[in-house]
Amino acid sequence: MSTVPRKGIKAAEPLVPEPATIIDVIKEGPNIRSFRLIFDDPGITTAFSFAPGQIGLMGIPGVGESTFAISSPPSQRDYIQFSVMKTGFVTSAIHELAAGDAVAVRAPLGCGFPVDSWKGKNILIVGGGIGMAPLRSLLMHILDRRKEFGSLRVFYGARTPADLCFAGDRVQWENRDDIEFIATVDEKHPGWSGHTGLVPQVIAAQPPAPENAVAVTCGPPVMIKYTLAALQQLGFTEAQIYTTLERKMKCGIGLCGRCNIGAKYVCIDGPVFSLDELKNRMVDGRW
Ligand SMILES: Cc1cc2nc3c(=O)[nH]c(=O)nc-3n(C[C@H](O)[C@H](O)[C@H](O)COP(=O)(O)OP(=O)(O)OC[C@H]3O[C@@H](n4cnc5c(N)ncnc54)[C@H](O)[C@@H]3O)c2cc1C
Ligand code: FES
Repeated sequence: MSTVPRKGIKAAEPLVPEPATIIDVIKEGPNIRSFRLIFDDPGITTAFSFAPGQIGLMGIPGVGESTFAISSPPSQRDYIQFSVMKTGFVTSAIHELAAGDAVAVRAPLGCGFPVDSWKGKNILIVGGGIGMAPLRSLLMHILDRRKEFGSLRVFYGARTPADLCFAGDRVQWENRDDIEFIATVDEKHPGWSGHTGLVPQVIAAQPPAPENAVAVTCGPPVMIKYTLAALQQLGFTEAQIYTTLERKMKCGIGLCGRCNIGAKYVCIDGPVFSLDELKNRMVDGRW
């Protein structure tokens, strides 16, 4: 994967978070919110650069920090966005934040998607729930450079219509004629006229061709497990499939050994991996 240096943040002090301020909060669903923020040092906001798929640690001083994918695209220079699902202690505290509140950020960390190596290829993006966060960054980055790629197909699933994030973006994506954007929910819901069924089933019903294609998936482990099986059944090879992995992180810079998968560290070698790099490591749908 391509490593992007931490431009803008003091690389000499990678464990010291940079003060930042929330400028906007977007309610994405019942338990997901997107937080747009700027660094308090305007020079850092200006110099900040990253690749889609890279992550950051966002925290509240005195509370703690958690790992999140950057969900805004690199071309968005006015702010960076994290989309946060409320699951426990830190994320519940983050959900209480409003515009004007202080946070502390260490970013960008890890490696992004090797988008430059995908030029000329057909792109398939498969997201589930909050797993769409890094894929939003990727999708918007590809749209910024649309002519460099072949066809662009996106499957995005969630349990219910309310759990599908990025409503405003989805309307735009669905209305473009240079993307095929397919949203699906697990079961029928009153007022929902889109697709119904689990993501791998919807993919199997409208099978993408593996020739000259790259597939990227991120979502709950069970969705990834069955999506990988569906893609491989269609003929996608391990080298054609990329995913982003979650591991609990502490240092974020390869020092504490908390996020390893075999000899690799999710915080520096990932979170983006090709299936080729991960083969034989999945047990019960988890790596
Ligand atoms: C590379 C990476 C990217 C991530 N990107 C996002 C993102 O974009 N948006 C987002 O909302 N979350 C993301 N996560 C997950 C997020 O980091 C955790 O949900 C968060 O740390 C939970 O913190 P907490 O203190 O609120 O929960 P805790 O109180 O620590 O735990 C509450 C529950 O969440 C589970 N949990 C905690 N950490 C993780 C984890 N890393 N993965 C899965 N389950 C976990 C615990 O097992 C427990 O059941 C990402 C994690 C990683 C490692
Ligand atoms: S989080 Fe410490 S080694 Fe990855």
